[in-house]
Formats: sequence, structure tokens, C-alpha cells
Amino acid sequence: MTFTDNHYKVLTCLSQNRFHTIAELSEDSGLSCVAIYKYLQSFSKLGLEITAMSHKGYRLNRKLELLSASQIKKGLDTNALSLLTTLEIYPQISSTNRYLGEMMETKAQSGHVCFAESQTHGRGRRGRQWISPFGANIYLSLSWLFEKDLASLSGLSLVIGIAVVRALTEMGVHNIALKWPNDIYWQNKKLGGILIEISNKSQAVIGLGLNLYLPKKQTMHITQPWTDLDKIITKTDYSRNHLASLLLNHLLAVIVSFEKKTLRSYLSEWRSYDCMQGQEVFIYRGQQQFKGIIEGIDDNGMLLFKESSGMIKTFASAEVSFRKNR
Ligand code: BTN
Repeated sequence: MTFTDNHYKVLTCLSQNRFHTIAELSEDSGLSCVAIYKYLQSFSKLGLEITAMSHKGYRLNRKLELLSASQIKKGLDTNALSLLTTLEIYPQISSTNRYLGEMMETKAQSGHVCFAESQTHGRGRRGRQWISPFGANIYLSLSWLFEKDLASLSGLSLVIGIAVVRALTEMGVHNIALKWPNDIYWQNKKLGGILIEISNKSQAVIGLGLNLYLPKKQTMHITQPWTDLDKIITKTDYSRNHLASLLLNHLLAVIVSFEKKTLRSYLSEWRSYDCMQGQEVFIYRGQQQFKGIIEGIDDNGMLLFKESSGMIKTFASAEVSFRKNR
């Protein structure tokens, strides 16, 4: 479904979080009642859940806080404000990573940030789809031109994971963990993922998808244990814009310090969040499958894996994926 300015207008009216009659929505948005009815029908395709009541009208089942560039900027610290060059928010985009990747080809710049309310072709690791319903989660990409060479950027996803844990912790969300190389976990369930795409000129697009609320309908095709922020924190009135600012504060700070330092400075913090160390897993590389125990990561950020024979193998992130042996 193509998202238009009119969809956005109607949703802005609905985001007041109460019942609205069609006549009211029509008056507030300047659209005809027939058009309003059509838009209301289409919202379920975006993943929005709406309750209709005969005398009261329509209301969204869950509070909708639309992302706002001015709100996000208000929450940025001085360091982040000085590093941010462009901040864009799209109601719908194919993929924020794809968009910034294309921008990099024509106008490469550090500190270009793009958020989306929904993605039609959200990209996950290993060619997977990232489910991106409207207005509930964080879909964020950030571009950066690194001075380091490509080889020194191999630990970037670990460092970005640290920034995400720091941001969530500052928001009062505790016990967030990391699963090598770039998953955000909580109690053995995936809360978010990082997708970093780097060109051979050390130009990086850093993408983050964080689940705040995944509607049940949309989760049928997710093949691994997952969670969302609504299930972790009891207060559901946290601000999405505030979380977006915290993420940018920590992401930009970590990126700049990673430019000056090496991965080694971050290893002990990363290891303190590692939720896979000591776990029995299956590792998949192409057609090969290995069973063994995760020993942790080495000083270069590679995965250390102990086979049943006792032999330790190291794996780079691009070549493998792994699952817990349940
Ligand atoms: C993973 O597979 O775990 C990585 C998921 C990364 C998803 C984010 S959402 C924002 C950005 N745009 C994309 O298309 N993908 C990343």
C-alpha cells in the first residue's frame, strides 16, 4: 500500500488517542467522509489496530506517537547536535538503509540520519525481511564516513550494540543483552537487530530496528523467539521521540570514540552484555552445521566456539549464523 499525505493527516487526527467520529475526522482533516472511511479501512494493512464502536466512532487500540524531528532534536545532547548533519523522517520508505546507501553514492556525508514510521522492504541480516509495521517501532539508519580502513571496521556492529544497550539503560530498561554479532536481546528473545552495510571506501550505513510493539498479526512469519519493549516495561507511556533522541546521543558518541580507539577499548563492556557465552548452540556455515558451546569473543570481535572435541574454532560474523540448542 502506498502511504500518502492524506493517510498521514488522518493518522495525525487519530493520534489524539480517543474516539473520533467519521464526521469529526473529516472536519479536522478537510477530507470527505467517504475518503476518511477508505483510509480507516486501509490502516489495518499498515499494521495499525483500530476499534470501531457504533456510537463513538474509531480509535487506535494503542497510543500512537508520531516521530517528530523537532521533538527528537530537543532531546539531543550538544555532542549529538554537533555531529548530526541531516535528520529525515519518512512516514513510509522501502528501507532506511537502502535510502541512505543510495544517498551515499551521490552525496556521502557523516551524520545523516533517517527514521521511518514504516518500511515496505525492511532489510534484515542475511537477506531476511525486517517486519516494519507503521508507527510502533524504531527503524533508523545513520551514515558515516570512517577514516579507519575497512579491516578496522569489523568490530563496528559490536560497538553499535553497546550504544543501543546504553540508550535503553538510560531510559530505564534494564538487563538488555547482546547476541554476537549484532542482535539486541532480552531474556533470550530478540528485541532488535543491527544491519551495517559498508562500502569499500569505509562509508557505512548503520541500520537499527528496535521492536517497541509488534502487532500479533505481523509476527506469524518470525521464526525465532522475539519480544518488544511493551512486554518488557510496564509503563507504556514512554516516548518514542525521547527514545529516538537517546539512541542518537549514544550512537553518535560511540561512533566518534570508535574512530579514535580500537575495538579493544569496548571488549570488556561488550562481554558484560553477552547472553550467549557458555550456551550450547548449532552454528551454520553454508551447508555445514556445527554443534558446540559459545566461548565468547576474541580480542578481534570474532566468535569463539568450542566443538564437542574440545577444539576451539573462530568465526567471522559474515560467514555464520547460530541458534541455541533447546
Ligand atoms: C537483523 O536482521 O537483525 C538486522 C535488522 C535491521 C533492521 C533495520 S530497520 C532500519 C534499517 N533499515 C533496514 O532496511 N534495515 C535496518
